[in-house]
Amino acid sequence: MADILVVENLTKTFDSSNKSLTVLDDVSFSVAEGSGISIVGPSGSGKTTLLGLCAGLDVATSGVVSLAGIKLNALDEDDRAYVRNQHIGFIFQNFQLLPTLTALENVTVPLELRGSKDYKDKAKDLLDRVGLADRMDHYPSQLSGGEQQRVAMARAFITSPRVLFADEPTGNLDEETANKVTELLFDLNKQEGTTLILVTHNMELAAYTNRILRLKGGKVISDNPTNGAV
Ligand SMILES: Nc1ncnc2c1ncn2[C@@H]1O[C@H](COP(=O)(O)OP(=O)(O)OP(=O)(O)O)[C@@H](O)[C@H]1O
Ligand SMILES: [Mg+2]
Repeated sequence: MADILVVENLTKTFDSSNKSLTVLDDVSFSVAEGSGISIVGPSGSGKTTLLGLCAGLDVATSGVVSLAGIKLNALDEDDRAYVRNQHIGFIFQNFQLLPTLTALENVTVPLELRGSKDYKDKAKDLLDRVGLADRMDHYPSQLSGGEQQRVAMARAFITSPRVLFADEPTGNLDEETANKVTELLFDLNKQEGTTLILVTHNMELAAYTNRILRLKGGKVISDNPTNGAV
């Protein structure tokens, strides 16, 4: 299968007053369409930074990210936002729901941005699939962490993205809720044929994807297949 994501010699440096910090150092890997990869590594090793660059939320200092054949570093912020809306779903480490919108409204935003019509039915269906049929009109502050994460998951899937980026999607959840959310993530992924790029500290979860990429100090120190598959 063709590669949906190609990362070549990616470097990210943050400059502060008198020193520069290299957070990603010459990172290269590619991901076949429809497969799943886990990115693991110690806190501060650059996982969230790498995910952000791959998803076009930020730009690299040097190197190339090609997503669905589009070179992200050549694009300005508006064009990257367009590519994200067309191809990407993102589940953030800390949910990032919009506090002034209800669960249903949060889920419909990406489709409204696309100018779609009938987005409400699709959003209701997804919220039903994540077990929140009776909480659609609640605001994020009225929902538990696990419920907010499930809203975030429904929002990430509403555009049927070709690539789903998930940053520690179960990191803030208790074990039972984490298991439910994980099952949902892999189920939705399988049903929709999405490519999954998952950041996790949980090696059990990582074993469900096809490959594990290990980062340390901003460098790739291993990239190995697993026995599992999404
Ligand atoms: N905007 C920024 N300015 C300066 N340094 C930054 C910035 N963003 C991230 N960093 C630094 O880059 C390094 C990697 O951060 P990153 O969030 O990618 O780590 P991580 O592997 O996701 O960690 P965790 O497991 O704790 O989530 C850290 O040392 C962090 O302080
Ligand atoms: Mg992180």
